[in-house]
Amino acid sequence: MNDRTKLPAPQIDPDDIGYNDSGNPTFDSILSSRLSRRDFLLGSASTGAMAIFGAVPFSAFAGHDHGHGARAESLLGFKAVAKSLADVVSVPEGYSYSVLCALGDPLAAGVSAYSNNGTDSDFEYRFGDHHDGMEYFELSESGKPHHHGHDRDHHSSSRALIGLNHEATTDELRSSFFLHANGGTSTLPRPAAEVDKEMAVHGISVFEIRKNRRGQFAYVQDSAFNFRIHQNTPVEISGPARGNALLVTKYSNNGTMTRGTLNNCGTGKTPWGTLLTGEENWTGYFFRNATDNAARGNDKSVTSLNRYGRSQGAASRHGWETGGVEDKYARWDISLSGAAASDDYRNELNTMGYIVEIDPYDKTQAARKRTALGRFAHEAAAFCIPKVGKPIAVYQGDDARGEYIYKWVSTREWHAADAHRHNRLEVGDKYLNDGKLYVAQFNADGTGTWLELSINNPAISAYTKYTFADQADVCINSRLAADAVGATKMDRPEWSGVNPANGEIYFALTNNSNRRTNPTSSQQAPDAANPRAYSDLKGGSKVQNGNVNGHILRVREAGNEVAATTFSWDIYLFGAESTAGADINLSGLTADQDFSSPDGLVFTPSTGICWIQTDDGAYTDVTNCMMLAALPGQVGDGGAVTVPGTNITTYQGKLPKANTLKRFLVGAKDCEITGVCETPDGKAMFVNIQHPGEGTAHADIADPTKYTSHWPGNAGYGSGGIIARPRSATIVITKNDGGRIGS
Ligand code: FEO
Ligand code: CA
Ligand code: CA
Ligand code: CA
Repeated sequence: MNDRTKLPAPQIDPDDIGYNDSGNPTFDSILSSRLSRRDFLLGSASTGAMAIFGAVPFSAFAGHDHGHGARAESLLGFKAVAKSLADVVSVPEGYSYSVLCALGDPLAAGVSAYSNNGTDSDFEYRFGDHHDGMEYFELSESGKPHHHGHDRDHHSSSRALIGLNHEATTDELRSSFFLHANGGTSTLPRPAAEVDKEMAVHGISVFEIRKNRRGQFAYVQDSAFNFRIHQNTPVEISGPARGNALLVTKYSNNGTMTRGTLNNCGTGKTPWGTLLTGEENWTGYFFRNATDNAARGNDKSVTSLNRYGRSQGAASRHGWETGGVEDKYARWDISLSGAAASDDYRNELNTMGYIVEIDPYDKTQAARKRTALGRFAHEAAAFCIPKVGKPIAVYQGDDARGEYIYKWVSTREWHAADAHRHNRLEVGDKYLNDGKLYVAQFNADGTGTWLELSINNPAISAYTKYTFADQADVCINSRLAADAVGATKMDRPEWSGVNPANGEIYFALTNNSNRRTNPTSSQQAPDAANPRAYSDLKGGSKVQNGNVNGHILRVREAGNEVAATTFSWDIYLFGAESTAGADINLSGLTADQDFSSPDGLVFTPSTGICWIQTDDGAYTDVTNCMMLAALPGQVGDGGAVTVPGTNITTYQGKLPKANTLKRFLVGAKDCEITGVCETPDGKAMFVNIQHPGEGTAHADIADPTKYTSHWPGNAGYGSGGIIARPRSATIVITKNDGGRIGS
């Protein structure tokens, strides 16, 4: 029997994945805490850096207005938005939103308006699906790149490009059913026309936006800047793994090229004005047949494939490999079938899983996969505050249960003129190809260590479970290298963000159903940095276990040096229901603040506000997903706490107050809120509403009354009205009095 005919297991949440069966210790078996917390804090304070950065009040950012009528606004002055299950997007009183662009909208001249009834095609020239991370790239009035304050004028807040991730597509039983008239085909083989649509809605959109005469933003359908990257777009492999034998495929016999970027989740904006996009749950799109281990001679590639979630016989998410004999379909079958790697796609999985750099201002240049930054389920790429003469650091999370937190440190020191070079991807080559990749180990005393992932590290070169050939192999198999050095297993590291006030790094740890007080071998016991394992009821009867609601951890580098190999940390916030017990609601969240499953996390430059976005399935019996605005303090502003009823001691930040944490937005039914960017003047904010209506059953496609959401059609956007098929979309939020968002 052809195992391709098996249906994939029902995917309740395709993001909720865990493959880490390494024996890495939890904190209580780590004996060597290098510094005591007290000494660490004293030591770093003595550098004086925290005394400067830590004291910057946020009102200082409110007045930092590049010369446009600077005034001191108090932040978080709005009234908190209430939790809601309504199929609407709610913003605070005094704010408004409009839809900027949605799945299927035309992105080139001559492409028809989206009919949204499953008959549309040409998705290579339309916005893709599942809008996720995004970044704002300034243009001058005459359409010149205008980033990072260089000759900035007021036009930079009225004309721009947005680089937008299209992570995935709403699917059930293989088919992205809202894209197809009858819901599409669940059985194999998948029709080529369906596969073509589904491949095209994944990837990136770069598009121009401009304010109209009424001062409202609209996207420019026929802008010469607009482009898409989809699954057939050529992309360069760059960095240490370029040309490596592990990247040789039938498409690229010398291992230097691939096609597409897949399951793009979080983003980063480089100090030189390019977009970084993280490839997250790419592994599930590939098929590997049930006899492939033996075909590979059970060599080390099998160890790698298993560690990255492709055990033999695993069905692919969409069955794209069955679309036809053409190469664009065949590449999704990674089974060994030819005489050599250049004859088949045995190595194709190694071409996904990177941070990819894109020049939004120049569509003629191929995107570059930055292999030096490691290969895993990437979320955001958060940049340190660049300092002249210091290396550049990039902070990253690997989102799967029990995976790790990583840091990249460039070899080259930051040179201010690099912010304004014309060949931006060459600048990327300089800072993102040569450097050191580290993984985080969190100690029980509130300190931590960055462990280098280098082929010269004896723990890696002498690792017995996988034999690394060279640094390229370390980059391609960074999860295995991180296992080898004893990294700390975390509660699904999602986005990272750097606080512009002090350079501290925040990590959203969304949840972990594998965190258990009495863990099995595939689960993790609570530790200081992941201290909660509890039970919660959903809908009054469904028991949810683990770290159900997630938390947000933050890190301060030793001496505030981005190249430091030690750090201190605490937990800024614990997600919880406001009515939960004190053993769960450790942050004392009120009904105006309570949230579950933090995911997107972005500090906006104009105000320094930390925006926290949720992708939740635990509290959704009470509320749709949301975005909160936060004014955090700094690492160490709270203290040690013991989780009630346990012997786990952790470090918790100062508790939030009513005016330092507030719910700002609640989304439509079954959506997640993800991605946020703003104009330089802070007066327009862009936010993504991803996968409204994803709880709809494939079988209900013919009965619109059974769709769980009709947004944004029900808000008057596009065709379909109150029975529209739901669409992922980007909204733009403004304040009715013209003020800064979050004031
Ligand atoms: Fe695409 Fe882990 O969020
Ligand atoms: Ca509950
Ligand atoms: Ca996410
Ligand atoms: Ca998600």
